[in-house]
Formats: sequence, C-alpha cells, structure tokens
Amino acid sequence: MDVFDVLHQHRSIREYHDDPIAPELLDEILQAGVRASSSGNMQSYSIIVTQDKARREALFEPHMKQNMVVDAPVLLTFCADFRRMRKWLKQSEAPLNFDNFMSFMIAAIDATLVSQNVAVAAEAKGLGLCYMGSTLANCDQIGEILELPEGVVPVVGYSIGYPAENLRSATVYRWMG
Ligand SMILES: Cc1cc2nc3c(=O)[nH]c(=O)nc-3n(C[C@H](O)[C@H](O)[C@H](O)COP(=O)(O)O)c2cc1C
Repeated sequence: MDVFDVLHQHRSIREYHDDPIAPELLDEILQAGVRASSSGNMQSYSIIVTQDKARREALFEPHMKQNMVVDAPVLLTFCADFRRMRKWLKQSEAPLNFDNFMSFMIAAIDATLVSQNVAVAAEAKGLGLCYMGSTLANCDQIGEILELPEGVVPVVGYSIGYPAENLRSATVYRWMG
C-alpha cells in the first residue's frame, strides 16, 4: 500500500480475530520499524513482544482491564532503555552519566519514534493496533510482570492483530478521566 493510503486509513483497532501473526511477518514489521531515527544512533529502547496467554492475562489488570490485552495475539511494549547505554558507557570507561530526566526523555523519544514506525509497517501489512496509555501510567507493575531489569522502563505499547471491527460498531474506549 502507498504510505499515504496507510496513513489516511489509520484508525485504532480494539477487537481482533484469533488468527496469530506469523513470526516471519512480525519479524518483517519489527525490522522495518527499527530503521527509525534515534538520538545519536544509540537506539536507547527495547521492544518486548508478548504472545504468551498467561502473561497477557497478567497484564490485563495493570492495563486497566482493557479487553484488547487478552484478545489480541500480540502486545508490543516499547521501553526507554538506559541499561544498554550505561553498560556501553561503562565498557568504554566513559562517565556513567545517562541517568537523569534528559536521558529518560531521549530514550522515551527513541522508543516512541520506533513504536510509530512499527505501527505504520504493521498497518501496511493489514494489521490493526491500539496504543494503551496504561503502559506509561502503570509502567512499574508492567515492568515487573515483563521481568524488566533496572533501567528499562515501559513508555508506550499497543495490542496488535488482525482487525475484527467495522467502523460503525467501533466503541471508543475512555481511558482517561
Ligand atoms: C499514547 C496513546 C495512548 C492511548 N491509550 C489508549 C488506551 O489506553 N485505550 C484506548 O482504547 N485507546 C488509546 N489510545 C488511542 C486513542 O484513543 C486514539 O488514537 C484516538 O482516539 C484517535 O483515534 P484513531 O487512532 O482511531 O485515529 C491511545 C493513543 C495514544 C497515542
């Protein structure tokens, strides 16, 4: 699909068919997405792919009980990752200074940019997705369930799968306020 068609046809998808996403397709989408620009070309993010049903069920509560967490075959969680950068600084015997709000913002921006490129790549392949603000709101609980190490913080995430909605029946989930 032409990129303009993909962008114009975008809408959030909250209901999904059971069909799994083929591993090759998921890989293709992620490989395209990670071509996104990143600050200093450091890619200070990590992407967590959650397909395991029990793990998705565990994430249901911190994701504010949004059904798409268990209904979609895949959840993608994009994390600001300080850990990798600090490891590299340490190995390079450079000052360990990637540890403040500015660093978090840099990593969070990298994570957000890659998330949207992955989203556009996925939509170009006929998949649908819906971001979940609960990723940031409950990043501590979500990080625990995903067993993230220190310095890896969930910032944006979405459910993703084959759309089972039509526009007229779509309900807008009120996730704020
Ligand atoms: C960072 C972010 C967080 C969002 N969180 C949620 C959410 O938790 N639940 C939900 O149903 N939609 C969520 N959305 C989707 C928005 O509601 C949706 O993008 C907006 O209403 C515009 O609709 P559209 O994406 O169909 O064009 C989120 C979108 C963004 C960008």
